[in-house]
Amino acid sequence: MRKIVPPSWIEISVRVTPQSQGAAEQLFTKNAALAVTARSASTDPCFQRDAADMPYWESTNLTGLFAADCAVEAITGCLRSELHAADADIEVTVLEDRDWERESLSQFRPIAVGAGLWICPSWRVPPAEADTVVYIDPGMAFGTGHHATTWLCLEFIARHPLASGTVVDYGCGSGILGIAALCRGASRVWAIDNDPQALTTSMENARNNGVADGFTALHADSMPGDIHADLVVANILFDTLVHLRVRLTSMVTRGGSLLLSGILPEQAHATAHEYAHDFDFQQFDREGWSILVGRKR
Ligand SMILES: C[S@@+](CC[C@H](N)C(=O)[O-])C[C@H]1O[C@@H](n2cnc3c(N)ncnc32)[C@H](O)[C@@H]1O
Repeated sequence: MRKIVPPSWIEISVRVTPQSQGAAEQLFTKNAALAVTARSASTDPCFQRDAADMPYWESTNLTGLFAADCAVEAITGCLRSELHAADADIEVTVLEDRDWERESLSQFRPIAVGAGLWICPSWRVPPAEADTVVYIDPGMAFGTGHHATTWLCLEFIARHPLASGTVVDYGCGSGILGIAALCRGASRVWAIDNDPQALTTSMENARNNGVADGFTALHADSMPGDIHADLVVANILFDTLVHLRVRLTSMVTRGGSLLLSGILPEQAHATAHEYAHDFDFQQFDREGWSILVGRKR
C-alpha cells in the first residue's frame, strides 16, 4: 500500500481592499494562522511617507499560513460570509515542507563591493582576486551585503578606510558593517542592536574574521552614554532614524561621518532635514534605496 505523506502547511490567500484588510487579518489570526503575509496584488509602489502614516496597497493578497490539519472549508467559508470574498479571490495552496533556512542560505554567494572588498559566506571560498574578505554567516540576522541598503554602507567603508578610526554600527544585524570597517583598518567598533540574536551573531562573525578584540556588541537599551566615534553607520528604516536623531548625532565626533541608510529616495530630503542642524549630507542611490553620507560640522 502506498504511504500517504501529509503536507506540512496550507496557505490560504484572499484578495482584500484597504477597508477589508484588517478584518481579514483578524479572521486568519482567530483561526490559528501561524503567519500572515501581505503582498501587493499589483505592481504599484506604496510608500510610508511619515512615521505616523501606515499606507495600504489598493489591492492586497493577504496570505495566512496554517498547519496541515486546519479547517480549510471553515476558514474559506468565513472569508465568503464575513468578508464577502468571491471564490475567484480565494486561493488554497498546499505547501510542502522544505529546509527553508538552508535554501535561502544557498542563494548567498560572494559579492564584490569595490576597492577590493568582498563579502563571502563563511562556508564558501572567496574568488582569488578578493583583496579584503569579510566572512559572514548571517544566521537569522539581517546583513549579507546583497541588499542595496547594506551595500551602500559597505561601499563607503571600502572607499574610505578609517586608519585606526573608531566606528559605531547602529542596528548591526549580522555585524557586517562593523566587521568590514575593522578589516579595512578601523581600530574599534561598537556594534549595537535591540535584537539579542543579532548581537550573538555579530560577535560570532567578528570572531570568525579574527577581529573580536576590537569588536564590542551592545544592546541598545544598556549601552553607555559616552560612546563617540569617527564614523557612525545606521542602516535602519526612516522612522527609526528620525526617532534616533539625538542619540546618533551625539555619538559622531566633530568632523566625523554619519551614514544613514534604509531610506527611500522620497524620504531622503525629510531625513536630511531632521539632521540638518549638525550635518551636511550627500545622497547616493541604488536599486530604489538611498543613503545619506553626512559630515558633522
Ligand atoms: C536593516 S538591518 C541592518 C543590518 C546590518 N547593519 C546591515 O546593514 O545589513 C536593521 C537592524 O537594526 C536593528 N534595529 C531596528 N530598530 C532598532 C533600534 N531602535 N535600536 C537598535 N537596533 C535596531 C534590527 O534588529 C536589525 O538588526
